[in-house]
Amino acid sequence: MHRVLSGIAPSGNFTLGNFLGALRHWVSFQDGHDAFYCVVDLHALTSDIDPAAVRANTLDAALNLLAIGLDPERCTLFVQSHVPEHTRLTWLLECTATMGELRRMTQFKDKGQGQEAVRVGLFTYPCLMAADILLYDASAVPVGDDQRQHLELTREVAVRFNNRYGETFTVPEAAIAGTGARVMDLQHPERKMSKSVDSPLGTIGLLDSDEEITRKVRKAVTDTDGEMRYDRAAKPGLANLLDLLAAATDRSPNEVAAGYERYGDLKNDVAAALCDLLRPVRERRARLESDLPYVHAVLSRGAAQAHEVASATYARAADAIGLLPAPPAT
Ligand code: TRP
Repeated sequence: MHRVLSGIAPSGNFTLGNFLGALRHWVSFQDGHDAFYCVVDLHALTSDIDPAAVRANTLDAALNLLAIGLDPERCTLFVQSHVPEHTRLTWLLECTATMGELRRMTQFKDKGQGQEAVRVGLFTYPCLMAADILLYDASAVPVGDDQRQHLELTREVAVRFNNRYGETFTVPEAAIAGTGARVMDLQHPERKMSKSVDSPLGTIGLLDSDEEITRKVRKAVTDTDGEMRYDRAAKPGLANLLDLLAAATDRSPNEVAAGYERYGDLKNDVAAALCDLLRPVRERRARLESDLPYVHAVLSRGAAQAHEVASATYARAADAIGLLPAPPAT
């Protein structure tokens, strides 16, 4: 069975963009794959840290992942920092990747820009992400479109390590979603819908009520020529709405466009489809909140399962690079 691994940072409220861009594919990869999913809490430490928020957001992320339909009987769900091999392998990969490679990462350039004191961890973040992936011999990594470059770096580092020290890592492929991979902000359709950007009307939260969803879709920015056609460059607002309905109903955006004449009618159907999509998530989430011991038990079992795989890979990598085997624990 093919192994898949993916991770999401616990940086607060998940959005519809996270869901359509990556998370719903996590759910479908549970069938027919050996799936590992990880709340990457260490990745949340690369900018200003509020310890209480890190703690709360990590649990919140786990709740959301179970609420969208991850099933601990069919996948391994765990918290990154619970498996110490992630940081241990990161060091070996930091000694494999180069400054030049990391400097080219657009996410680093974007996030580091304008910051006075950029943390080393923000710079080396892609090595930690590569460790997340390589520890599990993942052959596919379902991620949003914005993670392409990090995936490419992971592949390069894996190949280099294998060439220098002997076959150690599986070289992974990205599994980027088609329609819905890039959900744009409803108010600023030229930029990605993001939980880290302050755009309350432009962002649909994973847990938004039907009323909130409907209000935001109704207010979504379109254009004034009134022509119903899918054109991302010329008509980004409308294209985003068509993409959303296409993703929610498994059709192509052109197909969706053919069914409408008026923006208002399209918006009504987008709102209804999104409400139907997110309602069950909200309901599952409410049930999980009333059973936190269950959630902690899932994470604890997940950590044990993940550790079993990760420790074997780490031992292989450490041996390949010339570290003496650790003496048995006393
Ligand atoms: N960097 C990813 C993001 O910002 C999150 C991530 C961390 C990840 N480790 C990963 C994704 C491993 C896939 C696999 O979305």
